[in-house]
Amino acid sequence: MHIHPDAASVVRDLAPDEPVILNRPHAARRAARFFVEKFPGKVLYAVKANPSADLLRLQWESGVTHFDVASIAEVRLVRETLPEATLCFMHPVKTERAIAEAYFDHGCKTFSLDSVEELEKIVRATKGATDLRLCVRLRVSSEYSELSLASKFGVDLTEAPALLQATRQVADWLGVCFHVGSQAMSPFAYVQALERVRAAIAEASVVIDMIDVGGGFPSVYPGMEPPPLEDYFKIIHQHFYALPIAYNAELWCEPGRALCAEYNSMIVRVEKRRGTELFINDGAYGALFDAAHVAWRFPVRRIAADGTAGNDVESEDFSFYGPTCDDADFMEGPFPLPGDIKAGDYIEVGMLGAYGAAMRTGFNGFGSGPVESVTDEPMSSLYRGDRDDPRVSDNVVSLR
Ligand SMILES: Cc1ncc(COP(=O)(O)O)c(C=O)c1O
Repeated sequence: MHIHPDAASVVRDLAPDEPVILNRPHAARRAARFFVEKFPGKVLYAVKANPSADLLRLQWESGVTHFDVASIAEVRLVRETLPEATLCFMHPVKTERAIAEAYFDHGCKTFSLDSVEELEKIVRATKGATDLRLCVRLRVSSEYSELSLASKFGVDLTEAPALLQATRQVADWLGVCFHVGSQAMSPFAYVQALERVRAAIAEASVVIDMIDVGGGFPSVYPGMEPPPLEDYFKIIHQHFYALPIAYNAELWCEPGRALCAEYNSMIVRVEKRRGTELFINDGAYGALFDAAHVAWRFPVRRIAADGTAGNDVESEDFSFYGPTCDDADFMEGPFPLPGDIKAGDYIEVGMLGAYGAAMRTGFNGFGSGPVESVTDEPMSSLYRGDRDDPRVSDNVVSLR
């Protein structure tokens, strides 16, 4: 992997035929340090958002020691990459073999669950272990978030007290976790969720050792400008302290998106233009999965075929077709690009570090391509202190 100043330089050097993923290690370090320094509790990285081994190492070097893993493959990956990391298996539905391997072979003691069946499974698979750290996942609303996580997992408030009591019987350490949905656009999402946690704990009357406010912390995308992350941290801290929990109870969070969105962008090439539709070489089965499936709008900029940044012409709104043979490989956008963009030009698509680079498949023979590193800034950032909101001016975390 080479280090380049920016995407235009990659185009000049490689004139790539295939999409190129660009890593920005400095941006990932800055995000991790921001969370480690400013979140008033422990920070877990949600590996699913981007399981790149390089990124896992960056998180570790920046002070993230705990990792939220959701599958046995993620358990093995983190254990292999970071032998001393603490693994937390936070998928509420696991196989017994996965639980046993995680516990006996990889030293994972923390598991989440949202049903009595899962609790019994964990007890069986760990042969009645007495050092289990168990987190009951509560179902909470996703109404403040761009992507819902409210339907699939989580025990309802009516059943939560009984599950908390049953889990307390076998757990050495008991937590409550939830997920407010991804890209939560208001800190109030966490207030609402913590109110539900309060109701569940009060009804259950059990000692709680940990509250995990999950992921959902936002990044910046076109049309999605969240408030500063400090607002989220402050309100979470206040409401955490007001809960009826053990005096030494811990506060955790497990962000994915906010820790890695700025880590990657991607260079794609325009293979054909048809009016305002551009046929490009990555799409719905690649890193642009969310652009196709949930109409996510990522920031874009044109790099001319000769590697010059040619954004001086008035912009027009474009949609994209990906490279596979199927109509669903379509990204509506709109993606504003110079009106004279043409086949042979390249486009840098930004903010693809979370649920972007991780989503690439080889469907139809497309989806592979080089990975390079660049040293310029991501197309937008929550951590540089240069957003318009005056409250974010002191957000900068220095790069030591
Ligand atoms: C259990 C759990 N924790 C954390 C995350 C990360 O969420 P986000 O990327 O929104 O921060 C997810 C995402 O699906 C999740 O399922």
